[in-house]
Amino acid sequence: MDKYETHEHDVIVVGAGGAGLRAAIEASAKGAKTALICKSLLGKAHTVMAEGGIAAALGNVYPEDGWKVHFRDTMRGGKMLNNWRMAQLHAQEAPARVLELEEWGALFDRTKDGRILQRDFGGHRYARLAHVGDRTGLEMIRTLQQHAVHKGIDVFMEFNVQRLVKDGDKIAGAFGYYRETGKFALFKAKAVVLASGGVGKSWKFTSNSWECTGDGIALAANAGADLQDLEFIQFHPTGMVWPPSVRGLLVTEGVRGDGGTLRNKSGKRMMFDYIPEFFKSETADTEEEADRWYDDKKANRRTPDLLPRDEVARAINSEVKAGRGSPHGGVFLDIASRRTPEFIKRRLPSMYHQFKELADVDITTEPMEVGPTCHYAMGGIRNEADSTATKVPGLFVAGEVAAGMHGANRLGGNSLSDLVVFGRRAGLYAAEYAATVKTQPTVDAGELEELAKDLLGPLDGDGDESPYTIHHDLQESMQANVGIVRREDELKVALDDLQKFKARLKKVKVDGNRHFNPGWHLALDLRSMLIVSEACAMAALERKESRGGHTREDFPKTDPHFAKVNIVLQRVGDELQRREEPLPVMPDELKPLFEEK
Ligand code: FUM
Repeated sequence: MDKYETHEHDVIVVGAGGAGLRAAIEASAKGAKTALICKSLLGKAHTVMAEGGIAAALGNVYPEDGWKVHFRDTMRGGKMLNNWRMAQLHAQEAPARVLELEEWGALFDRTKDGRILQRDFGGHRYARLAHVGDRTGLEMIRTLQQHAVHKGIDVFMEFNVQRLVKDGDKIAGAFGYYRETGKFALFKAKAVVLASGGVGKSWKFTSNSWECTGDGIALAANAGADLQDLEFIQFHPTGMVWPPSVRGLLVTEGVRGDGGTLRNKSGKRMMFDYIPEFFKSETADTEEEADRWYDDKKANRRTPDLLPRDEVARAINSEVKAGRGSPHGGVFLDIASRRTPEFIKRRLPSMYHQFKELADVDITTEPMEVGPTCHYAMGGIRNEADSTATKVPGLFVAGEVAAGMHGANRLGGNSLSDLVVFGRRAGLYAAEYAATVKTQPTVDAGELEELAKDLLGPLDGDGDESPYTIHHDLQESMQANVGIVRREDELKVALDDLQKFKARLKKVKVDGNRHFNPGWHLALDLRSMLIVSEACAMAALERKESRGGHTREDFPKTDPHFAKVNIVLQRVGDELQRREEPLPVMPDELKPLFEEK
């Protein structure tokens, strides 16, 4: 064991996006010796892809907003499959977390009277997204990072955690390697917080960048934790579709929140064809009526362009399939005909530059071409609502890696608030747990030897499979068979493909040595991607209904049985085992909230 660089901490946090940074700040503030480990450079996290804002019922634009309305919107958006307690804590604590960010230096946009401005987003009854133009996630990371570096937290960058180590059934730390040198290191710890983000890189078109390979979910599954709800994948309705090199790059929902409308190839406001009945009764059901409503601020909240993301993504998918799409397989998103160039450049500066520089499109005069892009996993690691504890003692989770908060579909803006609400809770409870562990857990030296040997496998092997080819084939299969609309036969094809990819990964061979070797990194990342992809396809096959981010062509309706259960997966040996668990029951005093429309 002495041959590996070794560190000792009370709490280590894996992942340095919004949730990881907030967890590390809290653990350290509670007196725990804390390390923050990130796969990329500090400050580079998928959090920045939540551009349009952080949802919190501050009531600055609509004083009638409050935690109960936010709670109800979140549960309805999640098709009532959310863990009600998580949704309650989130709605109650989000305003304090936003004000805390402001206190720590976040420069939010302002109302005329100097309060934090809030914008409209899909599924939120009131304008409640505090924002910094269309760079909210970036500003949040900047603020948290600046706060964290003054707290004496040890930061380890460009480090890939490959295995959580245990002492008996309890967490004892993490083992992995530096991406730059390929050198192994051991982080001994009394508690671990996993905050390593999402899974998008298993799909071909995604807003996620290279880090998002589902590592945290695989680490937890391998350590004995349960996975939950992985069938629910959010396809954000608006990613870029052209040029091909940037396909999938996010186009913030803030464009629609600020007045943008979706149109098909004949210029029709297509979302009017997809309005659910309850919605029709509250708003206009013809385009002319809607145009009159539109300039009224209150009506803007109820535009069909701002239906929840799952509904808008399915609508775009249908338009394209019916031959009514844009030239490159999307639809048009138009803000130019409703807002002035000055307004667009002020409110959406990143979108303006993104389209100008990458697609040569001036969004102040021309429409954008957009289509669904894999953006977010609602499912993840099963955990306890208040403490974020998993069933592995000493293992806590926060952010996208954690299941429960968003149910079957996440509302835009609820991810940034989730990160800080549950990041804080994870750091707090991890530090409290660590304080109860009197001596540093021990790590088995033999286990590390085995693990090191296994990790070097792709460099030492004599196979002939390229990790790049396997990754390409995985993305093609997941996009085609486990996409927005699913069917039993296609899901079975995906599961069959995944078995073949697993066998091919055993024969992977990477050239070169351990020094910054992207092929080697990808070969190891593929292990995580295959676990997560299999979990998603298995759970999707099991859930024989359509709900939120899981649409079955062969089971197009919701099913009352599946309204009451989570699909839970557990890794046993090399296999995933599946079971159903009942949803936690909402207390009676909260139920009347859902009687109102
Ligand atoms: O559209 C967006 O700005 C994304 C926000 C989110 O995913 O919460």
